[in-house]
Amino acid sequence: MKNFKRYLITSALPYANGPIHIGHLAGVYVPSDIYTRYLRMKGVDVISICGSDEHGVPITMKARKEGVPPHVIVDRYHAINKKAFEDFGISFDIYSRTSNKVHYDTASEIFRTLYDKGEFTEKSTDQYYDEEAGCFLADRYITGTCPHCGNENAYGDQCEKCGTSLSPNDLINPHSTVSGSKPVLKETLHWYLPLDKYEPWLRKWILDDHKEWKTNVYGQCKSWLDQGLQPRAVSRDLDWGIPVPVEGAEGKVLYVWFDAPIGYISATKELTPDWEKYWKDKDTRMIHFIGKDNIVFHCIIFPAILNAEGSFILPDNVPANEFLNLENDKISTSRNWAVWLHEYLEDFPGKQDVLRYTLCANAPETKDNDFTWKDFQARNNNELVAILGNFVNRTLVLTNNYYGGEVPKRGVTDQNDNNTLNEIARLKETIEASIEAFRFREALKEAMNLARLGNKYLADAEPWKVIKTDPERVKTIMNISLQITANLTIVFEPFLPFSMEKLCGWINLRGMKWNNAGSSDLLEPGHLINKPELLFDKIEDQEINTQIEKLLLTKRANEAAEARVAPAKAPVTFDDFSRMDIRTATILEAEKVPKTTKLLKLKIDTGLDIRTIVSGIAEHYEPEKIIGKQISIIANLEPRKIKGIESQGMILMAEDKDGKLVMVTPSEKVSNGSTIK
Ligand code: MF3
Ligand code: ZN
Repeated sequence: MKNFKRYLITSALPYANGPIHIGHLAGVYVPSDIYTRYLRMKGVDVISICGSDEHGVPITMKARKEGVPPHVIVDRYHAINKKAFEDFGISFDIYSRTSNKVHYDTASEIFRTLYDKGEFTEKSTDQYYDEEAGCFLADRYITGTCPHCGNENAYGDQCEKCGTSLSPNDLINPHSTVSGSKPVLKETLHWYLPLDKYEPWLRKWILDDHKEWKTNVYGQCKSWLDQGLQPRAVSRDLDWGIPVPVEGAEGKVLYVWFDAPIGYISATKELTPDWEKYWKDKDTRMIHFIGKDNIVFHCIIFPAILNAEGSFILPDNVPANEFLNLENDKISTSRNWAVWLHEYLEDFPGKQDVLRYTLCANAPETKDNDFTWKDFQARNNNELVAILGNFVNRTLVLTNNYYGGEVPKRGVTDQNDNNTLNEIARLKETIEASIEAFRFREALKEAMNLARLGNKYLADAEPWKVIKTDPERVKTIMNISLQITANLTIVFEPFLPFSMEKLCGWINLRGMKWNNAGSSDLLEPGHLINKPELLFDKIEDQEINTQIEKLLLTKRANEAAEARVAPAKAPVTFDDFSRMDIRTATILEAEKVPKTTKLLKLKIDTGLDIRTIVSGIAEHYEPEKIIGKQISIIANLEPRKIKGIESQGMILMAEDKDGKLVMVTPSEKVSNGSTIK
């Protein structure tokens, strides 16, 4: 690999529309923090950049839901998330926000540069407009019937029932969720980044020059490129965001995915006047930590923007992770299916490292992965407590007992001692290689192997027995155990910063660099250590059961909410309603339609006439049992041929969530043809 002078680490800017949860931590922020802390310990020039993504529809949706202006939402969640990151030791050099002036200026300037260079194309298209609310509608603000599955609450960008991605024009019977009215198509002008033009360049840059990218990332890029890139709109009709800095663009803002990644640049400007060396010098290695849903934006669209602008460097790697599930179910904010960081800290105060450890050990690096509370408990009790904590504790307690806390001198070493000392150096190399390859799970496992090595060494050497017969020998054993302990503080620092900070205090060792690891002489004979406490405590079943029960309650609440009723439909006018001729009727004859399982052919008396209706109720009613039954019908539904029979209307049925159908019968007998209103 090329020798870089400095590192620029970026972590996806989370939307400031809700609190962050374990999925965010595992996918993006724990890995980026491990990598950054490792680089800092190496002593290289590195900065870690993050902040809140405060624009776009996710923010305005949340604001509308709460009935407050968007700035209230972003102010609230910016503060909450900034604190959550600090609480978990995610050590950004800056946590900025895209509502800052420096960001407005930077994003506008880059847009303007591309505009002046003629990099954009302009195009007018017809888009849905809400005449009552007086605004264009983002895809998410339009709902209607999915053309694929009939779900009446599909969004303009996606049907969440069948998963099909849609465009607003695909929806049958679209309506605006802003006012409820039926949107109209209206012409609007937008600026497009012609991604097709950059395709050959992107193909070479990614597919030829970055074959080392993770397979999930490389594969997704290849599939986008193979499908052929389309021009992408970089402006939106929205009243929240950065105004398009061009004349005649009133009411238009930059597309959130145009401005957000530029947030990395603005945050660097805010951090240091020396920002250009990070962004404009080819000797800087830029690395984007993101989740898999952000790949196309960071690997294709943002690089195309940077390339078109011309003066910025490009990312050298984009180690995106897959998703973390929680107890076998997709993490979801709206269903409250998540472990929120602030709630975790209330229930497990001081145990940030346990979560960092579990999330890294189980990180979704190559495929989606599952977080379970049982695994969390097992990792804590069987690994952190039983291996790492146990080794460190025995070493420090024995040193205090035998030598009053003074590091003893190492005497003559035997074969096992030498092998152990060599193994420290080998493990350091392995951990380093894994971190460099963004394989943090593997790195963590190797770090834990160093503690395992220590435990095995102590178990084999048995200083507590030997002390009675050969006290000189015990000095060597304890010296080696202390050197392992000192090494642990270095290799675990990126993963468990809070615990290693404590441990450094107990052994009085500060200011170690990464490259000190592997050494057998980190603690000099005569060096004094302090009294230790326990590094980790056991987590009891009771605490875990509380968490599992909490999730069960959430699950039940969700099921109840989902089961209760079908979602509301868009409002209709009274006029619409009164055009429907709903009235009572009585069934005179009923028979199955031959060669069908669902259909009954009914002859009914509507008061107006005697007519035939074909109805899909054969699985719910036996024909002979419904003769004479009074029902409700829509009498003026246009006649329709069903299996060759003309059906003249429709019977009203109540349908529950399981699809059970029940006839709607007046509560008392009335004359046929009574109107229902
Ligand atoms: N806010 C986006 C998300 O949560 C991520 C933006 S990353 C950025 O998916 F760098 F582009 F801002
Ligand atoms: Zn659908």
